[in-house]
Amino acid sequence: MTVKAMDKAPERPVALVTGATSGIGLAVARDLGARGHRVFVCARTEVKVKQTVADLQAEGLSVQGAAADVRDRAAVQDLVAAAVATYGAPVSILVNNAGRSGGGATAGITDELWHDVIDTNLNSVFLLTREVLTSGGLGAEPWGRIINIASTAGKQGVLLGAPYSASKHAVVGFTKALGKELAPTGTTVNAVCPGYVETPMAARVRTGYAQVWDTTEEYVQEQLESKIPLGRYSTPQEVAGLVGYLTTDLAASITAQALNVCGGLGNF
Ligand SMILES: NC(=O)c1ccc[n+]([C@@H]2O[C@H](COP(=O)([O-])OP(=O)(O)OC[C@H]3O[C@@H](n4cnc5c(N)ncnc54)[C@H](OP(=O)(O)O)[C@@H]3O)[C@@H](O)[C@H]2O)c1
Repeated sequence: MTVKAMDKAPERPVALVTGATSGIGLAVARDLGARGHRVFVCARTEVKVKQTVADLQAEGLSVQGAAADVRDRAAVQDLVAAAVATYGAPVSILVNNAGRSGGGATAGITDELWHDVIDTNLNSVFLLTREVLTSGGLGAEPWGRIINIASTAGKQGVLLGAPYSASKHAVVGFTKALGKELAPTGTTVNAVCPGYVETPMAARVRTGYAQVWDTTEEYVQEQLESKIPLGRYSTPQEVAGLVGYLTTDLAASITAQALNVCGGLGNF
């Protein structure tokens, strides 16, 4: 199917969004649904997946989902199979969004924390991408989009966030390499790099700094906001807006890039 033919197709391509029950992933699922895509969502907590599907369906969007842990290869295989079976179509858009924060003074970081941050933020991106390119059907399609939610922490170091920063730098590297690899196929691959975005994860990060610095979460928020030229956190909707744009045909020449949504926090 050509890109033009795809534009005219009665049903827009299927999008798989990981970590879509909260924050940025939820905003992305809602935005892609509003653009007419058939969306398949996942997160680990089944009750939240069901609630998210019900909420988005109640908004008139075409959304289904399943509980899945993106760290688990078998779960990833089942997830992609479920998305394909549900819509009877390949997964044409993959948004690797599921992620976790994690850090502390490096000398005190446990093996468990290190490996879990890398498994959740980096290894999952490889597992999902490989599965969508094979059993998900994306590799055989003339059009596709892979969008990895990295972070400005994937371009600059984050104080007391070595595992997180390492995982996100690696996601940016993976994105750039895969973008070159898939360029001849019509599938673009990009990373979207949020700065500070007001989500439950952002609140957990403030709690963590408040504990380490022995201060209040309000003080931490002031400190973080003072580093952002715009003076405020970005919204999940602002991040979803760039993700949505990257799925359009106008964005066909954007590939192998890492694009910030950060109020000026990141500068490259
Ligand atoms: N918020 C920020 O300031 C910010 C800045 C830069 C980058 N980011 C990145 O943006 C992405 C989303 O962050 P957010 O702030 O929206 O986080 P959030 O509000 O904590 O939401 C995270 C989502 O991912 C799911 N999830 C977590 N671990 C998972 C796993 N192993 N398997 C499947 N799903 C999993 C969560 O559901 P369950 O817990 O039920 O699984 C939830 O739906 C992350 O990759 C994060 O690193 C965020």
